[in-house]
Amino acid sequence: MHEDLAEVLLDEDAIRAGIDRLAAEVTETFRGRDLTVVSVLKGSCVFASDLIRRLPIPLELAFVAASSYRDGTESGELSLDFLPAGNEIEGRSLLLVDDILDTGRTMHRLKKEMLAMGAAEVRTCVFLDKPSRRALEFEADFRAFEVDDLFVVGYGLDFAGRYRNLPCVGVLRPEAQERVATRPSATSA
Ligand code: IMP
Ligand code: MG
Repeated sequence: MHEDLAEVLLDEDAIRAGIDRLAAEVTETFRGRDLTVVSVLKGSCVFASDLIRRLPIPLELAFVAASSYRDGTESGELSLDFLPAGNEIEGRSLLLVDDILDTGRTMHRLKKEMLAMGAAEVRTCVFLDKPSRRALEFEADFRAFEVDDLFVVGYGLDFAGRYRNLPCVGVLRPEAQERVATRPSATSA
């Protein structure tokens, strides 16, 4: 599958080092609080599972599904599914975890929803940050890496539902992008 990549931006060692650093920051921030880590599906499942195993503090894990991308690289309508149960959120300190902060719409909307559900505080944590793509003012409290305005795949990030299982992060070759875009596909988030 690496053959479909034109370039690897982050290899496994770089990812590991970035998450170690991030996990130390998150641990100090949430020590002594009632923490719920909310992983935004599907994209953050790989990142969230690596991150929580480096947080040596008590926490609970919840999920929410957000879909903003349809079959390609352009953003569509945002829909939320599987909102966490009230007792996973109410009065608790939340860490919202997503794969990438792009336009900022997903995290902005989710933060608002979680506060409306009664969270005591909501902080946001992203694996990748593309600051040049922001459509509204929003910054993550924690981020592992900043990337340029390129469409990237791997380590949870997909193109038309594919490539989430790559252990590295890279940019697709145009031929691969074309081949995957024209195949019949399931959904992505
Ligand atoms: P936002 O709401 O525009 O910030 O978009 C966030 C969502 O868009 C992420 O959770 C990803 O699913 C998707 N996304 C944005 N940029 C990329 C990318 O470069 N590769 C794969 N997915 C992306
Ligand atoms: Mg996503």
